[in-house]
Amino acid sequence: MSGPGVRVARRCAVAAIVTALVGMAGTPPASGQQHAGHTMATDSMGAVWRMPPQPIPMPMMLPGLMGAVPAVTPYLPDPGHDPSMLPEAVFREVVEMADGDTLRLEAGFVRRTIGTRTFTMYGFNGQYPGPLIRVPQGAEIVVLFTNRIDLPTAVHWHGVRLENEFDGVPGVTQDPVEPGESFMYRVYFRDAGLYWYHPHHREDIQQDLGLYGNMLVDAPAPDYYGPANGEDFLMLDDLLVDEGGLFPWGREAAVQTLMGRFGNQLLVNGEPRWEATVRRGEVRRLYLTNVANTRTFNLVLEGAEMKLVGADVSKFERESFVSNVVLAPAQRYIVDARFDEPGTWALLNPIQAIDHFNGRFYPQTDTLGIVTVLDEPVTQDHGDAFSTLREHADVIEDIDRYRAEFGRPVDHELELTVRVGDLPSDIVAVMAIDTLYFPPVEWTDAMPMMNFLSTSENLTWILRDTRTGKENRDIDWRFTVGDVRKLRIHNQRRSFHPMQHPIHIHGQRFLVLSKDGVPADNLAWKDTVVIPVGSTFDILLEASNSGRWMAHCHIAEHLEAGMSMVFTVDHG
Ligand code: C2O
Ligand code: CU
Repeated sequence: MSGPGVRVARRCAVAAIVTALVGMAGTPPASGQQHAGHTMATDSMGAVWRMPPQPIPMPMMLPGLMGAVPAVTPYLPDPGHDPSMLPEAVFREVVEMADGDTLRLEAGFVRRTIGTRTFTMYGFNGQYPGPLIRVPQGAEIVVLFTNRIDLPTAVHWHGVRLENEFDGVPGVTQDPVEPGESFMYRVYFRDAGLYWYHPHHREDIQQDLGLYGNMLVDAPAPDYYGPANGEDFLMLDDLLVDEGGLFPWGREAAVQTLMGRFGNQLLVNGEPRWEATVRRGEVRRLYLTNVANTRTFNLVLEGAEMKLVGADVSKFERESFVSNVVLAPAQRYIVDARFDEPGTWALLNPIQAIDHFNGRFYPQTDTLGIVTVLDEPVTQDHGDAFSTLREHADVIEDIDRYRAEFGRPVDHELELTVRVGDLPSDIVAVMAIDTLYFPPVEWTDAMPMMNFLSTSENLTWILRDTRTGKENRDIDWRFTVGDVRKLRIHNQRRSFHPMQHPIHIHGQRFLVLSKDGVPADNLAWKDTVVIPVGSTFDILLEASNSGRWMAHCHIAEHLEAGMSMVFTVDHG
């Protein structure tokens, strides 16, 4: 496909991006240069910048690039005392709560053992992941949160249509909770389904270090979902490690803002591998949440049939059998899996990786879990119910109230793009060739060096209102409770480095009406939608919850690099 000329041009472009980023970063701090084992840029823990791990061997790009580091101080969590004195994190507990109950939630330091290695990380209540909060629909709980980490923070209840003042977004709904301080949240659970909580302040660091937990909101109807023999909650994540331990984050500003921070150790519930043992014929309900900073997962379950039941904020109109489930950061899916064949089966993440330097895609598969299916039949066989695809009349009727609006004209248009300072025109010209080559979804970090050098200071990710030209925090959309609005979101292919963006809207719910003009035929209420490179999606937003809310890209580093806006919903 691509001739040698294009390939040469692409290599030039790659080098040009590096030059631009190094240029924008300015000269790395003098103390940041590494000389034969002596490195001077350290923080209190002795964090030093080192070269990021390379997923594929790469040719030297620019002489002198080795040793280039981002113009920010490296950060590692610092408990201020010997990490071996820290409590070893314990596996999360399930906290069943009723209306009016109170939960004490503390973000603190923990010792984590992952595989054979030990790290200083964060945990909620000393657990990994954080406690699984299980509540009945319509309940309101109180969470007394205390910050015992070394950074300011705040807790966001992702996807929950709660009262605005408890949304947990510093700068929009509250001040950050300083180390040692507390904040009281009241969390009202209006919708049944699967949610999660995480910090909304430097989440590139804090969420990555283990601050996340699930919430399951149970509907009153006992047959809300089909019958299952058991449930599993799978929080999908990754962590970037090298021989030195955790790879440092940026202290004053986020690094890896180009592609987001991809980890090289995939994790399920904080462990390298999910393991389960089931009986033949068993139906397991899998509650899937992607909590990674930037990685999109593509889940394939061997030895089982998978039935897609629910998404972020509701069930689908109709159940469907699926061969794989793609989850972008912050997205949730509820899947029923039936294991029919005795044996040992893998939960896989097969992806198309891209080698920008040699201009080729290559398949890569990671094993996330192992399921052992015993050759003993399950006592209660739900096989018949499983093979019947249910139609969810409750969801269909709820959505019926909005169908008349599906054909309305577009109310607001957003374009997703990126800016890297002022680039010389020859670089822009070369990028025009290079951007032809970017895939719709980047599944892995194919440019770790360029990514490493990009920070929230030298690179800006942009939500642009195409009708007003306003960008990010200058956008000022206003709605009234009860408004239904059509938003068109386009992810610009021709930009410096296009990438997919999982766009999350706080405090409301929406329907994805169409993808590139093709109407969706099986809807579910969502709070996060991933827009591939070059795509245009129409969504129908229901303004149902008053307050000042954020909408943003859920790639933690893109959020840090500017990709957020605020909108207001007035009382009806
Ligand atoms: Cu999951 Cu604005 O967040
Ligand atoms: Cu993004």
